[in-house]
Amino acid sequence: MVSDNKIFQDFQYLMPTKIIFKTGGISELTSLSIQLGTKPFIVTGRQSSKKNGALEKLKNTFTDAIVFDEVEENPTIETCDNAGEICRKNQCDWIIGVGGGSPLDVSKVVAGLATNTGKCEQYFGKDLFRNAPLPVLAIPTTAGTGSEVTPYAVITNTKNNTKQTIADYRIFPTIALLDPILTRTLPHHITLSTGLDALSQSMEGMVSKKATPITDYLAKESCKLIFQWLPKVLNDPEDIEGRYWLLYASLLSGIVIAQTGTTLVHALGYFYTLNYKVPHGIANALFLIPMFKRNISFFPEKLKFIVDFLHEEYSNQQPELSIEKALNRFFNEIKFSKSASTWGVFDNQFDVFAKQLYADSYRFRNQYGEFSVDDIFQIFKESF
Ligand SMILES: [Fe+2]
Repeated sequence: MVSDNKIFQDFQYLMPTKIIFKTGGISELTSLSIQLGTKPFIVTGRQSSKKNGALEKLKNTFTDAIVFDEVEENPTIETCDNAGEICRKNQCDWIIGVGGGSPLDVSKVVAGLATNTGKCEQYFGKDLFRNAPLPVLAIPTTAGTGSEVTPYAVITNTKNNTKQTIADYRIFPTIALLDPILTRTLPHHITLSTGLDALSQSMEGMVSKKATPITDYLAKESCKLIFQWLPKVLNDPEDIEGRYWLLYASLLSGIVIAQTGTTLVHALGYFYTLNYKVPHGIANALFLIPMFKRNISFFPEKLKFIVDFLHEEYSNQQPELSIEKALNRFFNEIKFSKSASTWGVFDNQFDVFAKQLYADSYRFRNQYGEFSVDDIFQIFKESF
């Protein structure tokens, strides 16, 4: 056991983002006094913010805005550099990120690139921006990544086919505007994938070496809300109460990982996303059972609520079996196939992935336990 026995824990907590959680908020930008400069640079994806009307509303409110709508899923360093260049050229002085995790992450990178010299890839690492980034308004339209309240941007480095992180406390968005109405038009597969991402983040936050009493409290609430509401919203996408709670749960998951970071689940998931285009949240979820069977040995007391909440019998002798059964029950309820083989993954590269992951010590920084290359290979196999 690790933190189960730890009574007096030292911790820090920084959350500088102003959170405005308002149903219909996207239609009230002016009355909410959301204006962080004179000329905004809007960063968005190719579709979702157009479908739900968010982009149109932003353009009508901020008529000077320059729009960059080319953010792809798993955005690349080239996209960030390109957007940064356009932002600088047009002398925009604040950024609006609107969409799923990808546009929000890019918006935060652009905020830094706009005031600093050089390219995106120079800033992979921690707190490397010299000059203060531009202020960012982040408007999530999925209930998933929590990027609106984190100091991270995960970007694909096309030079070595890896996902790398820019972590800088100054790219915390200045304002996060959360409007559940915007998530009502999300299709089933995105609701599923982003909901599972939020769940992974909250669960990982609880077992991170950087977990704190505050994040534990928020993460637990987030998990319960997702267990309760994700099945309902998947059955009825118009369930606005459910959409509200999922967006809130996602927000909590972002607040959590802003402090705790993610653990091996995310690190493992990146391999499926990069190599087989498995959506981020799905890729994480494929590793929840293999990893939490292991994690629960460090935190039996802390994780017991998952088993209880999902109405499984908790066994003190075999907690790993209890959490496996509980998560299986939840996955069945949401009709999620927990086998990577059904998501287009092949098992012929697991040895390569395992070696690559093992060699990257950064991925283990928040993870309890010792893992050999063989252990990691085994975890890939179990997810398959
Ligand atoms: Fe995530």
